[in-house]
Amino acid sequence: MSGNLLPIVQSVLRLRAQLSTWRERGATIALVPTMGALHDGHISLIRLAKVQADRVVASVFVNPRQFGVGEDFDAYPRTELADAQRLTEAGCDLMYAPTAAEMYPDGFSTTVSVRGVSEGLCGAERPGHFDGVATVVSKLLIQAAPDVAIFGEKDYQQLAVIRRLTRDLDLSAKIIGAPIARAPDGLALSSRNAYLDANERARAPRLHQVLAETALGLTAGGSVRPVEQAARAALAASGFDQVDYLEVRNADTLQPPPDGPITRTVRVLAAVRLGRTRLIDNVAAEPPRG
Ligand code: PAF
Repeated sequence: MSGNLLPIVQSVLRLRAQLSTWRERGATIALVPTMGALHDGHISLIRLAKVQADRVVASVFVNPRQFGVGEDFDAYPRTELADAQRLTEAGCDLMYAPTAAEMYPDGFSTTVSVRGVSEGLCGAERPGHFDGVATVVSKLLIQAAPDVAIFGEKDYQQLAVIRRLTRDLDLSAKIIGAPIARAPDGLALSSRNAYLDANERARAPRLHQVLAETALGLTAGGSVRPVEQAARAALAASGFDQVDYLEVRNADTLQPPPDGPITRTVRVLAAVRLGRTRLIDNVAAEPPRG
């Protein structure tokens, strides 16, 4: 298989040269930014990208700027050859795997910082994380200038940050959110699931169960604050080592909705810790009918 891998470029210069060739032939371009360690969730993004554009580029870059002190930057799985094989099999056209020096050359001094949607939730738990995400995604969107860029809804707050920066910086890419890919037991697919031992893996799906029950409670007409409180108690009783947050938020603004039954689509978002793994997940809840 390795003889037939998709082309891999490591520099902005080569990336742009390849993309210009395609554009001159009239092709549209989709970008799927990733940090590698690709799983079926990423492959679902590539499939969606192939429907959206003629050519698909996946970037693979473990971005040091979005990891805080004491987080898992060094441990983060790096599986470049396996990633290239999976991308090839999925029909991706190009892998862009820049080095850290290519992305952040000596003297690099710019940070993209998105206020509002980046605050609270994961932003409160991981100071500086969304600045790192916003900076690298801005660079990727400028480097590739794709027609569309695809991001998974598992990182729902990240998606909101990226939508905001794209509007604020007049970037032309259309941002598309892709549904969360899940294991048969409901656990959202994530590269970090590789950290779970067998016992933790058995407990992990409880996160999605609690979120799904919470969404049902809201759609059945439950009031936001009591439903939230019951969901936090359910998570606390579910064997997680720590519950970072469980929040009901407006699906567009990520602001807390007023108490009472919901009147528009909300998102129930949570983050928990299981051993050394931090799991995040979210589900949509629709307002009661009638
Ligand atoms: O979601 C991710 O994998 C990363 O945060 C992203 C968007 C590729 C930026 O490094």
